[in-house]
Amino acid sequence: MTTESSRTRQSATTGQTMGVAKPRIDGTLKLTGGADYAADRNLPNQVHGYPVTSTITSGKLLSLELDEAMKMPGVLDIFHHDNFDKLSRSPNSFADENLTSEARLPFEDHQIHYQGQYIAFVVADTLEHARAAARKVKAHYERNDEQLTNIASLDRGEGALPGEEVPGDAASRGDADSAYAGAEVQLDQRYSIAQENHSVMEMHASVATWENDMLTVYESTQGVIFQRNALAKIFGIPVEKVRVISHFIGSGFGSKLFMWPHAIMTAVASRRLGRPVKTVLSRMQEYLDTGYRPTSLQRVRLGADKSGKLLSIHHDGCNETSPAGNHDDTVSGATPKMYDCDHVAVTNRLVTVNKCPPCPMRAPGEASGNFALETSLDELAVRLDMDPLELRKRNFAEVDPAAGLPWSSNHLKECWDNAATRFGWEKRNPIPGAMREGDEIIGYGMATQSWEAMRMHCGARFGFRSDGSIMVACGTQDIGTGTYTIVAQTASELAGVPIEMIDVRLGDSSLPSGPLSGGSMATSTVLPAVSAAFRNALSQLADMATAEGGVFENAQPDTIGMKNGQLISGDQSIAVTELLDRNSIGLVDGEGNAAPGDEQSQYSFRSFGAVFVEVRWDPEITRLKLSRVCSTIDIGRAINPLTARNQVEGGIVMGMGMGMFEQAEFDQHGYPYNNNLADYILPVNADMPDIDVELLDYPDFLHNEFGARGVGEIGLTGVAAAISNAVYNATGKRIRDMPISIEKLL
Ligand code: MOS
Repeated sequence: MTTESSRTRQSATTGQTMGVAKPRIDGTLKLTGGADYAADRNLPNQVHGYPVTSTITSGKLLSLELDEAMKMPGVLDIFHHDNFDKLSRSPNSFADENLTSEARLPFEDHQIHYQGQYIAFVVADTLEHARAAARKVKAHYERNDEQLTNIASLDRGEGALPGEEVPGDAASRGDADSAYAGAEVQLDQRYSIAQENHSVMEMHASVATWENDMLTVYESTQGVIFQRNALAKIFGIPVEKVRVISHFIGSGFGSKLFMWPHAIMTAVASRRLGRPVKTVLSRMQEYLDTGYRPTSLQRVRLGADKSGKLLSIHHDGCNETSPAGNHDDTVSGATPKMYDCDHVAVTNRLVTVNKCPPCPMRAPGEASGNFALETSLDELAVRLDMDPLELRKRNFAEVDPAAGLPWSSNHLKECWDNAATRFGWEKRNPIPGAMREGDEIIGYGMATQSWEAMRMHCGARFGFRSDGSIMVACGTQDIGTGTYTIVAQTASELAGVPIEMIDVRLGDSSLPSGPLSGGSMATSTVLPAVSAAFRNALSQLADMATAEGGVFENAQPDTIGMKNGQLISGDQSIAVTELLDRNSIGLVDGEGNAAPGDEQSQYSFRSFGAVFVEVRWDPEITRLKLSRVCSTIDIGRAINPLTARNQVEGGIVMGMGMGMFEQAEFDQHGYPYNNNLADYILPVNADMPDIDVELLDYPDFLHNEFGARGVGEIGLTGVAAAISNAVYNATGKRIRDMPISIEKLL
């Protein structure tokens, strides 16, 4: 991957540190093993938990034989339905910030809904003892042969997609049926995307300990506040009695947003045994028990005139969900916002399958829906004998066509042109197979990228210390994206002190309530709260300085500013450290809150981008290679262009996974057999193309005072469609079912 070739424009609003490429402030800790990941935590007297998982896919657990397992070395106890604690029902509210991934509690009843469902939990003195004993647990089941594990196997026929329609997910404007019927050019195609597993580097891990009635949990989570709230609800204790800590996380991509049952089993076992319990899932358990991007089936119908103007869009989506959860990927959800078209109808359907609950996976829903829409547009362009980029330009949405609101900021047109120029799109020959080099047939493809720009409420603390350092704290977490670093950059910029002097505290639910690290909303949510906390701390300093006998005795507190770590009043200044010394104070600690406001009902907030790819198909050795990727992204202002570009590059690699490699596979019993990193194919270093990312720099000050819209997901969108479109350009084969594995090209 050639990050060297990636570029970022210097922002007009670039400050001392904000908008400047900075290496991660936690990089050294991570590279030297100093970062304390959940599974690294070892507490005195700690023991180890290991789940026993169902080996059937659907049915009933009749009984467990535990004698042999109990006699295994080091075993302390085995928890299951008959001896588990009675807990309050699992809460399930996003609004109350206590959503869990699985609607059931562990061992709630004897129903088996999926392979891998937890049926018992062994605790022993070591991980090895717990695992060995878990394998000695014998289960007796009543098997239900009516099971469904993969909607890709369903008859996709000619009519409606399978499953139950979700009425609330439908959206329409105009009269799409009539517009389609009357359109000069019609396109009606079906698309699918295989289930993609979460292949996180750091396994899900939970270490629980009770001191008196206080529960502390070290968890690899994208949401310390959500997990704290959920645990408090489940145990029926106040939130003050639960603390969730997640200082570092080795990727999550959505699978660690909402608590999974292993954390509940671990906390219960710890309370019962009166000692800390650690549970680290195995890779196989990751693939069975911690969510995935659900298989989706889609149908897109486009009506257009000969000039390429879209007259109608129908987008029907269908995705899997689980009896044990309630995740809905809503793959067609973004379509109404993407292009200028008067007649649009989207629907969404769910099919319940016997698998663990699906969950968000980077650009959930939208990446899947984008694949179908952006591939269908390429097909329409072929039909019209038109450049697919030109087709998109003719349908650019000047305002949000779904909400009828102006965009807060939208530079999609520049993304298209910028990426096309850098890629060399003008050299494209639209005739399939016409571009060759040696044994390789070359194909070009492109797609539009897009992701919603969200923002939530948030609190933060900002503390000036007498040694000149600054402490900033927020109950959000850094999942590897660079949140520690951008918070430090923001504090550094606001106070005018070097970034090395900023001490950032995240990943602890006892800090002021912060957002999930998900949905590309942490940046836009957290930084305004840091700013509010800064202003609060500054006003405390100003009060101190303007008080009777203070250095700025005669000044009004609200005229006091800050520059370079100095408090400023007119042409006078005093270092904060000196002010604190004079007042014999060690710390001035400000709290602040920030939330989105009226702008949310006046504008539509989205990020956009364009991705162009080159594939090389060598028919002699049946090798498909993605050779070049060029993406230009409009995310408002990048607070840290280095980490922001990293996010886009990582998203592109995940898009390669969707387009070329990733596919969870099941045998006739519903057993997922490629349940490990050897058999589950992922893009690896040897597959990497030249990835060239450019970030435009148009701060979106309607979204927040720093102009940043967030960047986690958008890089993934568009990539699978661009690859599929390039494969068509190379081979003349239109592959509508992702991933494009080699056999589909033979
Ligand atoms: Mo990402 S799916 O928002 O963690």
